[in-house]
Amino acid sequence: MNFIMKEQLLKIAEEAKNVLSAAATAAELEDARVRFLGKKGELTAVLRGMGQLSAEERPVIGQVANEVRGQIEDLIESKKTAVLAAERTAKLASEKIDVTMAGKKPALGKRHPLTTVLDEVKEIFIGMGFSIAEGPEVELDYYNFEALNIPKDHPARDTQDSFYISDSVVLRSQTSPVQVRVMEQQKPPLRIISPGRVYRSDAVDATHSPVFHQIEGLVVDKGITMADLKGTLETFLKTLYGPEAKIRLRPHHFPFTEPSAEVDVSCFVCGGKGCRVCKGEGFIEILGAGMVHPKVLERCGIDPNVYSGFAFGLGLERVVMRRMNIDDLRLFYDNDLRFLKQF
Ligand code: DAH
Repeated sequence: MNFIMKEQLLKIAEEAKNVLSAAATAAELEDARVRFLGKKGELTAVLRGMGQLSAEERPVIGQVANEVRGQIEDLIESKKTAVLAAERTAKLASEKIDVTMAGKKPALGKRHPLTTVLDEVKEIFIGMGFSIAEGPEVELDYYNFEALNIPKDHPARDTQDSFYISDSVVLRSQTSPVQVRVMEQQKPPLRIISPGRVYRSDAVDATHSPVFHQIEGLVVDKGITMADLKGTLETFLKTLYGPEAKIRLRPHHFPFTEPSAEVDVSCFVCGGKGCRVCKGEGFIEILGAGMVHPKVLERCGIDPNVYSGFAFGLGLERVVMRRMNIDDLRLFYDNDLRFLKQF
C-alpha cells in the first residue's frame, strides 16, 4: 500500500514540476496550485487514503507527502516572482510613452473683436482718470427715460421703442440711465464711463441689431465746459484712430444735454478727402454728446449753479466696424470661427 502511495506522491511531484515550469502567467500558476494543492486537488486526494495505512506506515508516507507539498509550494512561490516580474515588464513595455512623438497643440481661443476694442477704450479713459461704472440691463422707465428729461409723451421715445417688461420696467435702450444712477449715488467730481448691452426693437440688418453695445461717458465738476468735452473726445479719438485723426462737432439735439452735438471723426480710409466709405463727406459720425442738462443734474440732487458736466455716448459695434473694416454687424453675433479667427 505504502509503495503505491509513495509512487503516486512522487508522480504528482514530477507532474507538478512539469506543469509549473511551463506556466507563464499568474492565471496558469493559480490553476496549477488548485490542481495539485487545492481542497479537491491531487495531493489531497492521495492524503485522504492515509487513514487506511498502518500506524508505522502513516508517518513515513506523511513525511513524503509533506516534502512533496513543500516542493510544490516552493516551486509555485519562486515561479510566481518570475511570472509577476515578466508581466510587469511586458506591461511597462506596452504602456511606454514615446516622448519623441509629435504633440497635440491645444486649441487656444481668441478674444472677440468687441471685447478687444472695448478694452482699448477702457484703457484710454482709465488713463484720463475715469473709472468704470455699471448699471442694470433691466431698467426702470424712470432711469431710462424720465430722469433723462424724456417724459411719457416725448418723441425721443419713438426711436427707442423698446422692450417693456411692465409699464415701469424696460430693457434699457441706452446706457445713459447709468449717468443718473451714478449721480444719485456719488457726489462730484465724477468721471466715469459705462459700457454695456442695450436693447431696441430694431429689425436685424447689416447695421442694426435689437441687442448692441454702447459706452456712456460722464464728467461732472465745478467749471466743466464744452472745451473739456471737446478736448477729452479729441484725446480719446486720436488715441483710438491715430494722431492724424480730426474731430468735428455738429449741433444736434438730445433731451438730456444742452447744448448737444454729434461728433464726427475724419474718415480713416481717405483721411478727410472724401471717399466711398464716408460717402464723400470726409467725416464719419461716431458719437453723441453734450453738456448735461441742468434739469438732469437737479433731479439727481446736484446744484446746476455750482456744478456742470458733459456726457457722451457711442455705439461700440460701430466703432469696431470702422476700426476693423467690418461691413456687416451680424458677423459679431454669428459666432462663426472663420470670422472670429481673423482678429
Ligand atoms: N443715449 C444716446 C443714444 O442712445 C447717446 C448719447 C448722446 C449719450 C448724447 C449721451 C449724450 O450721454 O450726451 O443715442
